[in-house]
Amino acid sequence: MTKPNLYSDHAYNQKNYQNGLKRSQVVVVMVPFPAQGHLNQLLHLSRLISSDNIPVHFAGTTTHNSQAKLRVHGFVPSTLSNVFFHDFEIPPFQSPPPNPNASIKFPSHLQPSFDATSHLREPIAKLLHSLSYTCNRVVVIHDTLMASVVQDFTSIQNAESYTFRSISAFASFWYSWEAMGRPFPVNDELEKDLPLLKSCFTSSFKNFISSQLEYAKFSSGNLYNSSRAIEGEFLDLLQKEPVKGNKKLWAIGPLNPIEKSDQNNKSSGRRHECLHWLDKQSPRSVIFVSFGTTTSLTDQQIIEIATGLEKSAIKFIWALRDADKGDIFSGEVRNIELPKGYENRVKERERGLVVRDWAPQLDILRHPSTGGFMSHCGWNSCMESISHGVPIAAWPMHSDQPRNCMLITKLLKIGIVVNDWECRDQLVRPSDIVNAVRRLIDSKEGAEIRRRAVELCLSVGRKSVAEGGISRMELDSFVAHISR
Ligand SMILES: *[C@@H]1O[C@H](CO)[C@@H](O)[C@H](O)[C@H]1NC(C)=O
Ligand SMILES: *[C@@H]1O[C@H](CO)[C@@H](O)[C@H](O)[C@H]1NC(C)=O
Repeated sequence: MTKPNLYSDHAYNQKNYQNGLKRSQVVVVMVPFPAQGHLNQLLHLSRLISSDNIPVHFAGTTTHNSQAKLRVHGFVPSTLSNVFFHDFEIPPFQSPPPNPNASIKFPSHLQPSFDATSHLREPIAKLLHSLSYTCNRVVVIHDTLMASVVQDFTSIQNAESYTFRSISAFASFWYSWEAMGRPFPVNDELEKDLPLLKSCFTSSFKNFISSQLEYAKFSSGNLYNSSRAIEGEFLDLLQKEPVKGNKKLWAIGPLNPIEKSDQNNKSSGRRHECLHWLDKQSPRSVIFVSFGTTTSLTDQQIIEIATGLEKSAIKFIWALRDADKGDIFSGEVRNIELPKGYENRVKERERGLVVRDWAPQLDILRHPSTGGFMSHCGWNSCMESISHGVPIAAWPMHSDQPRNCMLITKLLKIGIVVNDWECRDQLVRPSDIVNAVRRLIDSKEGAEIRRRAVELCLSVGRKSVAEGGISRMELDSFVAHISR
């Protein structure tokens, strides 16, 4: 195991300190969990916090830091002068391909990369120690699932930690509430419909979560990437003891401040092909289909979707990819086969577009021709859809997604269900796809759902994101708190 970065960081800090360079008041160390949706959120948060003149140290494995930087959308990480990347080499871990035929959809092929995060404990402890000499306070912001990796901050007098929850307040609340033995009554109707945890996770991952939660007690507060405009009721419940656990809470989402990117500029040469295609479609007529970075569908299910989309007579953009591997840079990626001639045919007939590279999801959702999103209901996708007033055809696959689907379809009522969670083992037929897509894009019911989605988006925009809005205020309040 080589640790070149570690020692040079240490030397660098010691040297700066000895040279009497100005001590910072506070430095932040971000410790993300190595799965795309989690990496992405903490990288965005790094940008936001560093723009308040606080140095941010982003600490992860070399592979996952590269992944985060490569896929970030809306800014160039290397141009952030106040964000420092610490790329730690860890021993090689297994990075098998996903198994599309697995009996449950949880991406258990990622477990070795999750387990390998334990190797970050030592280098991160050293980083925290060396930073602790250079500033008055070291603030660790870590993913819920990295609590054990950062545990050594407790031996540093001027360090404190905050837990970043990259899932919905809705899902978070029920997890905590159930784990605490249901300490107070809540809505029975909702409770009885909650998908069971054992249907959403593998047992190894449940053990992994438990092994992290042991260390959650050390954290001083929780940060949610959500907004009171979306989940006020559940953020309130999270503030009830004993669930609150005497910790502070900030809801800083969606904070999607990058409203314009190059891709929006119609004359930009770097604009993705699918955006040009969207320019030619009528308003809110297209369904965007994507199941995120952790879903691997069977060959047969893919054929059924292809057939359904073509039959639906609704135009579509389908981001067709296999789930990420633990190390996205290693080895071959499955070549997902569609029926012969399918891609060319739907393209030539202006029916739809299959995108196999990294689809610019935010720009697609923001485009006026996009009328719906068929989604696995990962929290990033839910928030991005909500932020742009796009209604959802929900097809949850695993983890928090089935519960997010409940939030979207039953509580917020801004989406419909493609496939009931109880039927998750069954093949979804072309007719199910046709029904879902037509209901959402081209029906009275769909119009009503869209109206609510647009209303929610406006309310989020008014209440949260705007300067002086609640999310901005909560982020400012968090920054003020750590710089106190
Ligand atoms: C999944 O099952 C199909 C059909 O039984 C088979 O052709 C395919 O090779 C399997 N894929 C993997 C990765 O096991
Ligand atoms: C919150 O989630 C949105 C939607 O995925 C994402 O674009 C944004 O960067 C996240 N913000 C933070 C601070 O994590």
